[in-house]
Amino acid sequence: MPNIGALILAAGKGTRMRSRLPKALQPLGGRPMVESLISRAREAGCSKIFVVAGHGFEEVKNALPKDVTLVHQTEQLGSGHAVSVAEKALSSFSGSLLVLYCDTPLLKTSTLKELIQDHQSGQTDATLLSAEFTNPFGYGRVVFKRGSFVEKIVEENDATDAEKKISLINVGCYVFHKKKLFDSLKRVKRNPKKKEYYLTDAIEILAQEGSVTAVQAMDPQEVQGVNNRIELAKAEEVLRNRVLEGWMESGVGIRDPKTTFIDSNVQLGQDTVILPHTVIEEGSVIGERCVIGPFARIRGASRIEDKAVIGNFVEIVRSHVGRQTQIKHLSYIGDAEIGENVNIGAGTITANFDGKDKHKTVIGNKAQIGSGTIFVAPVTVGQGAKTGAGAVVTKGTKIPDGGIYVGVPAKSLDQDIKNNKPRTKKK
Ligand code: UD1
Ligand code: MG
Repeated sequence: MPNIGALILAAGKGTRMRSRLPKALQPLGGRPMVESLISRAREAGCSKIFVVAGHGFEEVKNALPKDVTLVHQTEQLGSGHAVSVAEKALSSFSGSLLVLYCDTPLLKTSTLKELIQDHQSGQTDATLLSAEFTNPFGYGRVVFKRGSFVEKIVEENDATDAEKKISLINVGCYVFHKKKLFDSLKRVKRNPKKKEYYLTDAIEILAQEGSVTAVQAMDPQEVQGVNNRIELAKAEEVLRNRVLEGWMESGVGIRDPKTTFIDSNVQLGQDTVILPHTVIEEGSVIGERCVIGPFARIRGASRIEDKAVIGNFVEIVRSHVGRQTQIKHLSYIGDAEIGENVNIGAGTITANFDGKDKHKTVIGNKAQIGSGTIFVAPVTVGQGAKTGAGAVVTKGTKIPDGGIYVGVPAKSLDQDIKNNKPRTKKK
C-alpha cells in the first residue's frame, strides 16, 4: 500500500464547550477526544501522525503519544491556515495525506480505509468524505459537477438559498495529494466574512485544475461533529455502544448495556460476564470467565486474571488480582498484588494512602482474608495465611506463609500461645 500520513487539526478553542480544557482534550470514552482519531488513523494504515495544536498547546503536547509530531499554530486563522503551518513538518514525509478535524471523533476505521482506497485507486488530487444530513444547517455543503466529481464546498455563511438546500455536507475528512494540497493552499484567500483561510477553498482550486471526488459515509452517526457538551454526551453514548457491541461480538456477556461503561482502551476475555452498573476504565485488563459487578469499578490499568470474581460495590485500582480469586462484596483494593485462589472477605479495605504516598498490599496465593480486614499498607500476607474478621493489619506487618493474624492491631495467634494467652482457634 502506498505511504499515507495523517494530519489532525486540533488548534481550535472549542468555545462552545465552555471549558478551560482545549476541545481536543475533552474526554471521550475515557481518553482525550483527539486520541480516538489518532488510533483510527493508525488502524487505517497511516504511518506518521501529525497534529496541529494551538489553544492549550502545552496541555495538548503533554497529553499526546510521543511518536506524534506536533505543529504549533500560534494564531488560529482557519482550517486552511492550520494545514499550511504544517508544511515544514511534513517536508520529509512523502505520500498522500489524510486530513481530519479533531471535532469529528466518531469516524470509523473502515470508513477511513474506504476513503484512502478510493483516493489511491482514483488517482485524483483530493477525495473527501460527505454525508447526507436531514438538517445540514451549519455545515459546509458539497456542490457536485457530475457523478462523484466535486465542484466546490460552500460554507453556510456563503451559501446561496439554492446551495443551502443541498443536504450533502462536508464531513471534514479528506485525502490529499500532498504537493498539490500545499500548492493550492498558497493561493487560498481569506474568507471576506470570517477573515479565515478555509481548507475547503483549496478543494475548489483543486477541482478546477484537476479532479476531486467524494465518498459518501453511510452512517450519519459517525460523522457527527462535537462542538458542545450536549454533542459530547451524545458522542460518548455512540462510542460506548460501539465498544460494548464489539465486546459482545467477541464473546463477552454484558447483562445491561445501558448501565455498563467500558473505556475504549480496556481488554476483556471471552466468557467474562459484566453485570449491571459496572465501570471499567483506564486500560484495565480482565481475563476469561470472570464475573464483574454488579456495581463494580475497576480502573488504573488493573489486571484481573481468569475466573476471578469481582462483586458488588467493589473498587479496584492499580492492582493485580490473581486467577480464581474472589472479592465479592464491599471492598476497596488499591495498589495491591493479590495471588491466585484468594478469598477476600466482605468489607476488606487496603488503606494504601498515608496522606503523602501510596503503598502496596501484597497477598499470597490461597490466603483467606476475614470480613472487615483493614490493611494499612505497606503490608505482606503470606501464602495460605489468614486474617480474622475485623483485623487491622498495621503498617509494615509481614504475615508469614500460613500465619493467622487477628485483632486490633492484628497479632499472630501463635504469639498469643507463646505469651500464654488462651488460643481462640484450634488447628
Ligand atoms: C468545518 C468545515 C465545514 C465542515 C465542518 C464539519 C472549513 C472551513 N469548514 O467547519 O465545511 O462541514 O467543519 O464539522 O473547514 N482548526 C484549527 N485551526 C484554526 C481553525 C480551525 O486547527 O485556525 C481546526 C479546529 O480545531 C477543528 C477544525 O479545524 O478541528 C475545523 O474547524 P471548525 O472551526 O470546527 O470548522 P467548522 O465551522 O466546524
Ligand atoms: Mg467544527
